[in-house]
Amino acid sequence: MKHVETLHWVGEVDGYLALIDQTLLPLKCVEIQCRNAEAVWEAIKMLRVRGAPAIGIAAAYGVCLGLQTVAGQAEDALYQRLGEVADYLASSRPTAVNLFWALERMKQRAAELRGRAPTRSVGRRPKVGWAAEIAETLLAEARAIHEEDRRTCRAIGRHGAELLEDGQGVLTHCNAGGLATADYGTALAVIFAAAESGKRLHVYVDETRPLLQGARLTTWELKQRGIHTTLICDSMAAVVMQQRRVQAVITGADRIAANGDVANKIGTYGLGLLAAAHQIPFYVAAPTSTFDLSLSSGAGIPIEQRDPREITHGFGRQTAPEEIDVYNPAFDVTPAELIRAIICQRGLIRPVTRQRIAEVLGAGR
Ligand code: MRU
Repeated sequence: MKHVETLHWVGEVDGYLALIDQTLLPLKCVEIQCRNAEAVWEAIKMLRVRGAPAIGIAAAYGVCLGLQTVAGQAEDALYQRLGEVADYLASSRPTAVNLFWALERMKQRAAELRGRAPTRSVGRRPKVGWAAEIAETLLAEARAIHEEDRRTCRAIGRHGAELLEDGQGVLTHCNAGGLATADYGTALAVIFAAAESGKRLHVYVDETRPLLQGARLTTWELKQRGIHTTLICDSMAAVVMQQRRVQAVITGADRIAANGDVANKIGTYGLGLLAAAHQIPFYVAAPTSTFDLSLSSGAGIPIEQRDPREITHGFGRQTAPEEIDVYNPAFDVTPAELIRAIICQRGLIRPVTRQRIAEVLGAGR
């Protein structure tokens, strides 16, 4: 099967962002073109592109698209537009901190260049050529964020693979695979790397209500790699553990607080409790860009509330009475004490404590 990239930039600074529309998977693998910041915002909001690292990468390219509207204008116009477009993209989804991390990194790179035009580009139309150079530098920054995530995912896979043993069953939730990142994934990277090293694994995949990222995306990825995969309803996780079908649980993360509390797809907290009750290790795999050290604990993590129709009218079919009251948080927070280790590109954070996190992340994200 032809390898299709989760997302990629096409062309130069006047190019566009192409991404797999994940809402159509697994039935259709279709690439869409985002040619302005509004299209990127919509793609993030509607989960055409989703998963914390992929959202961050898309937003970085979204900034580049937003700046195309001021191409040829002066430096001040570029900075004003940069601020507007970054704020706008930041409003797409609230929980995955990689979105804000990537936007901040783009703004930071731009700030380093502000007012530093070499004298040759200061002419009758001041700093026009310099603004174009800044736009090019920002595209290079977005590409760097993208490329770094590729390497990060491979490193997470390498570090995490040692936690899994030949013949084990592993449970995962939502999709933390190649589709949620530049490539290869976080939680799935651990599984892929273990499988590539010759370990035979049996992966149980929660379907992940209400948007079925597990059923639609994770099974699709695992099947492509020939890994033994069994799909279950979310409500079956307890019995799968009770029957000792799995010896490890691995998920990704959307935001990790300084004390190690982890926000991830709704249902993850339940898995953490179940794993503890059955003495099964629960691991979280995430890049350092998913940590938010400004938050002392998970209590401060903003949780996205999504459209009730995702529950009452899932995939276009009404399954609840009209006007029923609905609660639809997209994420929950798993307390650090339920997590055996966090696997990041720098290695294992174990035990998951404030101190150990500070040690590993000391050199920054
Ligand atoms: O709502 P989604 O599909 O964006 O939620 C995604 C998750 O919860 C993932 O587990 C998380 O972003 C990690 S992806 C490597």
